[in-house]
Formats: sequence, C-alpha cells, structure tokens
Amino acid sequence: MVAEILEVLRGKVAPGVTTMDLELVAEAELRKRGVRSAFKGYRNYPYCLCASVNEEVVHGMPSEKKVLREGDIISMDFGVYCDGYYGDAAITVAAGTIAPEAKRLIDVTAKCLEEAVSAATVGGRLYDISHAIQSRAEGSGFSVVRAFVGHGIGTELHEPPQVPNFGSPGRGMRLKEGMVLAIEPMVNAGGSGVRILDDGWTAVTADGRLSAHFEHSVAITADGPKVLSRL
Ligand code: MF3
Ligand code: CO
Repeated sequence: MVAEILEVLRGKVAPGVTTMDLELVAEAELRKRGVRSAFKGYRNYPYCLCASVNEEVVHGMPSEKKVLREGDIISMDFGVYCDGYYGDAAITVAAGTIAPEAKRLIDVTAKCLEEAVSAATVGGRLYDISHAIQSRAEGSGFSVVRAFVGHGIGTELHEPPQVPNFGSPGRGMRLKEGMVLAIEPMVNAGGSGVRILDDGWTAVTADGRLSAHFEHSVAITADGPKVLSRL
C-alpha cells in the first residue's frame, strides 16, 4: 500500500501543485483502503505525508502555500499502519524539467538505496548497509546527512536498531533472518549539516543546497533482501 500510494503521489507532482494537494491525495488513498497513516499523530506530527522541497531534507510539512515550480525536486515520505504493522518509504521526484545536477543528486541517492538494500543480507553487518550509502554518496561528490538515520520497523514505526547513512564495513550488529529495516539515505549536494525550521519539524540543509531522500522497508530473508515497499 505504501508503494501504491507513493506511485499515485508521483503521478500528481507537477508545477503548480501544492504540497497540501499531495497531502489530500495521500489522505484519500488511505481512506480508500481503510488504513491509517503511520505518521499522523506520531509525536504530534499533524499530517500523513512529509513533503520536502529542494533544500528541505526531511519532515517538510504540507502547506497550501508551498507551490511546486518547474525545476523543483520533492521528497515524499509516507507510511501506513495496517493489521498491527508499519510500512515506511520515500521517493524524490522532479517537478517538470530539473537541472542536470539535481537529476544527478536524485539518481545517486536512489543508487545509494539500491546498493544499501543489496547489503542487507543474512550474516552481513549493519554498517555494511551504512557504508554502501556513504561510499556511493561521497564517491559522487555529495554528502550524507548524519542527524537523521534509518531504523528498524515492524509493530512500531521506529524500532532498534538505528541505521545510519555512514559507517565502517564489517562493523555493527550481525544481520539476521527476519529483521526488517527502513533504510533511508538522505544525500546533500553540499555539506552534511542540517537545521530545523521554527515549525519544529522541517529539516533543511545548513548551506541551502539541494537534498534528496529515498527509503524502503526491507526484510532480511534467507533468500536475500526483500523490498517490502516495492510494487
Ligand atoms: N520516514 C520518516 C521516519 O522514518 C518519517 C517519520 S516522521 C513523522 O522517521 F514524524 F512524520 F512520522
Ligand atoms: Co523511516
């Protein structure tokens, strides 16, 4: 359901659309399926969707005042609670035509997630996942956000362990069959620093440069990583 709804949202992103329009689409899709938002009410977060535009890193709050313009990039982070379990995923997409460097940031961040997923194997180590993200991001001339991390996910939205987007290969806990991790690279075009806006939620890059974010909920199985938030 998380994957389905994110695909619906992807199709709505265009110049002229507001982030509140996207929130309303997300709400309607939840209602259609009779399921709850994973985010609304979590630590008093008031919306179903996090919509983070350009220099916003994560936890952007939907607003009717935030109108997408040609060339913007937007990260949409979305989660569902159903039958006692949580799902959580995020994608970053373009509004219209974007600058080549913005496109490269999105592509590298998506690649960071893919390579991190590949490292989520039985017998591997937690920071193999982290290292996969860091090395691809930094090797591409970008930086990883350190102030926010991925997480275990299951009967709670956030469960141990934390899954940093940086770390040393061969370190961290041993990965076991049945673990489910929300892996979520946040990659900045400039420096890794972030600050929180006065709304108490929106994280933005300290240098005002672009940031991209992708996330999947991934099960570690005997047959390898299984991406639960993919159609
Ligand atoms: N994907 C984010 C996370 O894992 C979104 C949760 S923020 C919320 O932390 F507060 F809005 F729920
Ligand atoms: Co998450």
